[in-house]
Amino acid sequence: MTENIMLEVQDLTIRFGGLVAVNAVNFQVPAGSIFGLIGPNGAGKTTLFNMISGVYAPTSGKVIFNGQEIQGRPPYKVNALGIARTYQNINLFKKMTVLENVMVGCHTKTHSGLFSSMLHTPKQRDVIKKCLGILDFMELGDKAELKASSLSYGEQRRLEISRALASEPKMLLLDEPAAGMNGAEKEDLQQTIRKIADKGITVLLVEHDMKLVMNVTHQICVISFGKRIAFGTPEEIQQNPDVIEAYLGGGLDV
Ligand SMILES: Nc1ncnc2c1ncn2[C@@H]1O[C@H](COP(=O)(O)OP(=O)(O)O)[C@@H](O)[C@H]1O
Ligand SMILES: [Mg+2]
Repeated sequence: MTENIMLEVQDLTIRFGGLVAVNAVNFQVPAGSIFGLIGPNGAGKTTLFNMISGVYAPTSGKVIFNGQEIQGRPPYKVNALGIARTYQNINLFKKMTVLENVMVGCHTKTHSGLFSSMLHTPKQRDVIKKCLGILDFMELGDKAELKASSLSYGEQRRLEISRALASEPKMLLLDEPAAGMNGAEKEDLQQTIRKIADKGITVLLVEHDMKLVMNVTHQICVISFGKRIAFGTPEEIQQNPDVIEAYLGGGLDV
């Protein structure tokens, strides 16, 4: 039986002036899997996310989502097709409440704008119910009415994931979700990523914490200086000499 591929990037390339930030990268993400994308700082991981999510149009190559070419489409269209993401630099509306931040993530499903999402019509009451459900799932239910700015760093990262889930994605891109988290928060995050995958959402994970990546992913693609240097299971990747070499200095700290 062939695996059902949800996302495929083919020869994906982007240049910024003289720099080829992502250079003919290929990988396939099976539906339902947790797929890791790792590599040293500056390797091109966030740039890959930006091309998949529509923030950047690639110079060449393809992004194929459920059989459809999506490269170059604007982010809201990519989101409407079922791809949601979080950001390496936390990107919340700090003065809005936790619940309102999640409601913002619903707007591609409800076809209501940011401000109409604050009105309490019957339809919006359903939206609120749905968003409170997501907050409960992300263990932020008791923080719904607090300002986003009052959350701890780890909680803000969970809120970013909550907002991404509000668009009911088929695939979730997480860009360094454990950055700034303490050990206990990372343990929780690991469980959360598994819970998200158990809901049938395919996860593409960029993360520097190697313990987390190795524990939670099924397959890993490694990039360095914009190029794919390895692909395999976590066990294979940990023993791959090219990967160890790429991480020398930084250390493949599992
Ligand atoms: N908009 C941009 N303009 C110019 N260079 C960029 C831009 N975005 C990313 N880069 C460069 O592309 C390379 C890859 O960056 P990035 O994807 O952020 O790496 P990573 O997420 O793997 O740490 C870096 O050299 C970075 O400076
Ligand atoms: Mg990055």
